[in-house]
Amino acid sequence: MNLYPLAKPFIGLIGPETAHRLTVRALAAGLGPNVSAAADPILKTTLWGRKFANPIGLAAGFDKHGEAIAASLALGFGFTEIGSITPKPQPGNPRPRVFRLTQDRAVINRYGFNSEGIEAAAGRLRAYREGGGTGLVGVNLGKNKESEDAALDYAKGAAALGGFADYVVVNVSSPNTPGLRALQGKDELAAIVARTRDALPEPAPPLLVKLAPDLTDEDKRDIAAVALDAPVDGLIISNTTTARPDGLKSPHANEAGGLSGAPLMAPSTSLLTEFFALTEGKLPLIGVGGVASAADAYAKIRAGASLVQLYTALVFEGPGLVPAITSGLADLLRRDGFA
Ligand code: FNR
Repeated sequence: MNLYPLAKPFIGLIGPETAHRLTVRALAAGLGPNVSAAADPILKTTLWGRKFANPIGLAAGFDKHGEAIAASLALGFGFTEIGSITPKPQPGNPRPRVFRLTQDRAVINRYGFNSEGIEAAAGRLRAYREGGGTGLVGVNLGKNKESEDAALDYAKGAAALGGFADYVVVNVSSPNTPGLRALQGKDELAAIVARTRDALPEPAPPLLVKLAPDLTDEDKRDIAAVALDAPVDGLIISNTTTARPDGLKSPHANEAGGLSGAPLMAPSTSLLTEFFALTEGKLPLIGVGGVASAADAYAKIRAGASLVQLYTALVFEGPGLVPAITSGLADLLRRDGFA
């Protein structure tokens, strides 16, 4: 059942945060579509010993608290990523904190890690796994705003949630937590990765780092060196941007926060290309930012991505986008002679 065409005009009229909450609740209540993940054999990929039915995943920030794991996967995604999850529950920034830039096919958010905390997320992940859920689920970790020991926060998340996860993400790239992105600096990042990895339960899931698109050349070289030395098992490129590319038309374009959607496609893809080169193709990369079509997903793959994620395009296109992208991607791969 696809309620989206019916609901879309109304969702457009209510605020974006309320629309987001209602959508997550509707999915959690079983009101979403049920498309099994595209099973076209050309889309299958194995990474970190995990078998992905297709390489298109739901990016972090949609299912922040792990409320709709099975239902998100039932939109046709090959994997989902819940979070960011902070150790203790925290409310995030005051509202309004999410803005639709409709003319730009973009969103600006400054949620600031509103999170129900690791205990609530652990309960939901446990229920999903104990209910027989075998879908591929990444768990994205954040830090509490007031916490002074960032590495300890990521370690707590890893210890509590790593046992349920197909991969764990250290998110040091949200623009909405003061000081967070400074953790992408060389020494900080190396320490965080080491402590998070130590905290993961055995058998340890792969550990990834999610990067901001707003990095200097020196940042990029440092991060690539840490990623290869630590080593990490992959990078997610990228989070939202604090930049405001020329040409944004929407009245909300100057709201503070992270910009996602169409205007992020080009910068996040060029960062992906750069990191593929900097890491010499040795690390799996997840490409995210502005994907709204099969051609966009394919561009990420050609730039070096092993997996692709999206979020903002779903806001504008609805869940039918997922099967459209997977089937379109299969066509593109076949056209170009991939097996
Ligand atoms: C996000 N994103 C995000 N990322 C993350 O690591 N932790 C988070 O909590 C959130 N929260 C969040 C909220 C909202 C409303 C949006 C739109 C995005 C970033 C997201 O995962 C992704 O990296 C970017 O949005 C770029 O992809 P899209 O949206 O352009 O496909």
